[in-house]
This record gives sequence, C-alpha cells and structure tokens, in this order.
Amino acid sequence: MKLSQLQTPALVVNADVLEKNERAMAALLAGSTARLRPHYKSHKCAAIAHRQIAAGAVGMTCAKLEEAEDLVDSGVADVLIANQIVDPRKLRRAAELALLCRLTVCVDDAENARALSQAAVQAGATVHVLVEYEIGMERCGVADADDYVALAKLVDSLPGLHYDGIQAYAGHVSHMPSAQERLALTAQNEQAVRSLLEKLAQAGLTAQTISGGSTGTAAIKARHGLYTELQAGSYLFMDSTYRQLHLPFENSLFLLTTVVSRRDGLAIMDAGVKSLGVDQDDPVLFTLGGAEIHCARVEANEEHLKLFAPDRALALGEKVLVMPGHCCSTVNLHERIYLYRSGEIVDRLQVTARGKSR
Ligand SMILES: Cc1ncc(COP(=O)(O)O)c(C=O)c1O
Repeated sequence: MKLSQLQTPALVVNADVLEKNERAMAALLAGSTARLRPHYKSHKCAAIAHRQIAAGAVGMTCAKLEEAEDLVDSGVADVLIANQIVDPRKLRRAAELALLCRLTVCVDDAENARALSQAAVQAGATVHVLVEYEIGMERCGVADADDYVALAKLVDSLPGLHYDGIQAYAGHVSHMPSAQERLALTAQNEQAVRSLLEKLAQAGLTAQTISGGSTGTAAIKARHGLYTELQAGSYLFMDSTYRQLHLPFENSLFLLTTVVSRRDGLAIMDAGVKSLGVDQDDPVLFTLGGAEIHCARVEANEEHLKLFAPDRALALGEKVLVMPGHCCSTVNLHERIYLYRSGEIVDRLQVTARGKSR
C-alpha cells in the first residue's frame, strides 16, 4: 500500500530517516564513555525500545511506572523511571517490578526514600536509586549539595535500596536555539555535578551512574564524558521544535492528514489536537512530494487544523504531511505508527505505552 492510500489522520515514520538517526546517534557516541539510555516517552513503542537496546543502549528511561511495566512486559531488562514515585500503591507496584528487572527510581526526599525502602524490603526486591540533583530546570530534585549528600547517605544505608548515583536533567537547556548557549549552560551544569561528586567522595560515596541529557545536549555530553548515561529520546523522530536547532538528526515523524474543506485563503485538515501535540512549537507542513507549505498562520482545533493563506493551492482530498511541534505528546495520541519507504508502507508498530501515564 502507498503512503498516500492510508486513511487519515495517521502517524507515519520515514524508515530511512529513522535509520539515519540511529546511525547519527551511534556516530555521536562512538569513542565516548557515555552510553545511551533513551527516553521511552518519545516513541512509546516496545519494538523500537528493543531496536535501541540491540543497537547498544544500556536500557531504557521512562517517565511513568506504567511505561516501565510496559517495557518490562515486553522483555526489557533494565529500566530507569526518571521520576519520583510517592503513592503507596505505586511504591508496591515498583517494588514488585524490581523483582522482574533491574529497576532504578529517582528520589529527592528522605521520607520517600524510607517508603521506597520499606516497599522493596516487603517485596524482597532491590530497587536501584538515583538521587536527583536539581540543576536549574526548577523541576524535581535536591537543590542544595549538602542536602543531596545527606540524602544519598541515607539511601545508601537503607535496606532494599542501592544508591547508584545522580539523576541531573537540564530540560531547560535542550531547546535553546543557540548552540553556544547550550554549550555554556551544559558546561555550567556539569561543573555543579563535578562539585557534587567531590562532596560525595568526601562523604565516602561514589556515584557510579550520572544520568541525564537530551537530544539537544547529547553531542555536548558525549564529548565531555562526565555523564555515564544519556537519556535522549526525540532524536529518532524529531519535531518542528528540535528542527530549528540543526542537530545531526532529521525529522522522520509526520502526521498524514487530508484536506477536507477549502476556500479562498483557507484549507482545513482532518486532524486537530486529538491527534497532534501542540504543547510546543507550531507544526510545519509538507506536500507528499516534500515541498514545504508556508502559511500565514496555523491553528489547531479539536478535530481540525486550519491553514491560513497557504502559499500553494491545496486540492480537496489532497494529503498533507504535518511535522508535529512535539513528537512525544503526538505519539501518545496514537495507537499505531506506520513505517514507510519511498512512499510505500512497509510496517506498522503498536504504540504499546500509549496513554500509560500512571
Ligand atoms: C528526564 C528526561 N530525560 C530525558 C528527556 C529526553 O529529552 P529529548 O526528548 O528532548 O531528547 C526528557 C524529556 O523531557 C526528560 O524529561
């Protein structure tokens, strides 16, 4: 079947570009001490996770316990939940999961560490722990180095837990348009982590793992070699936000849509926020032939995408490829992703962790 024959909206991936991105990441990591631990939230397809592991990834990163369960159910043996788990029932689920795989969880609070320890002991499991260090994103993590060391010592002493090291993620740097600014801020963040390592060493603790990084900072971190694990996720699919950074990765993910209505200066596509992530930049539009369609404005409603003043005539029923503003939130809206090569559908992947946000 041809790409153009798919019913829309349909999430599609150019398989040649996907493979190019896999090779680009491998090239970026060649000679580096850092290993890839790609973020699952960017594709949520167990089949792709297994591809990444076969290509050398040390394991997977995910945001949610349910995503971790999905990965383990598919046979992934090493999973990091790069988040805090607080709910008592979820702590029990995490401890049970740790009996089935090497599970690592982030912690930034002493009470939470004790609760995780208790759940692990009750299950007879060992849960690996990264104590999260806040390096400017203003999200989770311990912000003060001395507080961090105290918590790491506590984790190290608690039964059922194993202190592995540091989670330090600087998401606010990932999309900075200036490569120089990304480099400068990453170097600054890494300096904070180095200072923390010295304090940990003085306390007799070793961080075997330093995990973090994104598609936008992977090359810098791979070169610098401080981080042992890189959590880049978007590099395989990319999106219109990352496209602006001119990274060594290309856009492989598109939402195939159809023009369902048109009049002077306006074309209406059959896909809105129920199939397109709109939490970052505007989508970018292309004809099936690959020509970019420039519009004065693009507006997403629930089931429609409005193209105001497109710079080319769009026929009723014409298919248009929409490059999402954010690949991760787009993927979560779909049950399946079609792979295509040279305009032919060649495979279909299940988005196994779609909607798994608990
Ligand atoms: C903790 C963590 N690590 C890694 C990533 C991956 O980032 P990207 O998809 O930009 O490569 C994210 C993205 O939000 C994240 O929250």
